[in-house]
Amino acid sequence: MSETNPIEALAALESDALAAIAAAADPEALERVRITYLGRSEGRISAILRGLGAMPPEERPAVGQRANEVKGVVNEALDARATELEGGAAAAGEDLTLPSRRPWKGGLHPITQAIDEIWAIFRDLGFVRARGPEADTVWYNFEALNTPLDHPAADEQDTLYLADSVLLRSHTSPVQVRTMEAYEPPIRIVAPGWVYRRDTYDATHTPAFMQIEGLVIDEGVTFVDFKGTLAEFARRYWGPDTQVRFRPSFFPFTEPSAEVDVKRVITRPDGTREETDWLEIMGAGMVDPNVLASVGYDPERYTGWAFGMGPARIAMLKHGVDDLRTFFENDMRFLGQFAS
Ligand code: DAH
Repeated sequence: MSETNPIEALAALESDALAAIAAAADPEALERVRITYLGRSEGRISAILRGLGAMPPEERPAVGQRANEVKGVVNEALDARATELEGGAAAAGEDLTLPSRRPWKGGLHPITQAIDEIWAIFRDLGFVRARGPEADTVWYNFEALNTPLDHPAADEQDTLYLADSVLLRSHTSPVQVRTMEAYEPPIRIVAPGWVYRRDTYDATHTPAFMQIEGLVIDEGVTFVDFKGTLAEFARRYWGPDTQVRFRPSFFPFTEPSAEVDVKRVITRPDGTREETDWLEIMGAGMVDPNVLASVGYDPERYTGWAFGMGPARIAMLKHGVDDLRTFFENDMRFLGQFAS
């Protein structure tokens, strides 16, 4: 470059660049031409402009002016060619006004989100996560839980049998039994998972659904621990103003048993606050001594409490969803609203 007159060199660059622009057949080729001549670090015209400082001072103004001129001409030619190429694409039937496709954004299913939120609260309260098989035996699903097969409570949880005494579990409570068999107290577990029932598919039932089981066993665990921990959970989940009510109920594996209800305080868009109706969120109770005995624990030494809740129901309450089926129909217009 130093050998040639820079003004002549610029003229040559200009005609080379214009020829290359005219020859560029598509936008990518055109972009490569732009980089060759005007690219910030390697561009040949850019290099001359950058080299101005090293030239004899009397040459600088003329070379600088010419270099800027060439840059302007090349830029204009690039723009003009770009427009031409677009026109060609449009002529070829491409609709260049069509918005680009939005990339898929993954998200957790609303029921998975509810499980994660519920789990996080119990984790902070010192619980660990446990799991058990979805195909289990009559012993784990019913008998060890103080529920003889001819007990009416077993009818309510009719399920699919895979073999004589092997079934799809009708609740997550068998995880209680399996955990107690495998470990000595103290036990503090939360066990989410699928369960199955002979239920008709409607707005509030699905034959396969999620439950979250909880179990606490130790020496000296009382009804106060039971109520206090579950009330604390409800307030952490739904806010400190949430009221909690324990209604007497019956489950074969707890004595006494309760249904736990919450009354939430919601803030309307205009800022006014309103109490909801009482809503049932779980079944629970003090673990029946017969259950402790069935796993070989000494019921005189250990006591505990347990609960079972449906995260889908909790997700419905949280999001104001009134038909459970929408969670399972995989309509992305519905599910996409929960992607965060
Ligand atoms: N297993 C019960 C059901 O599916 C729910 C339940 C109630 C679980 C009380 C418990 C409990 O652990 O203590 O209906």
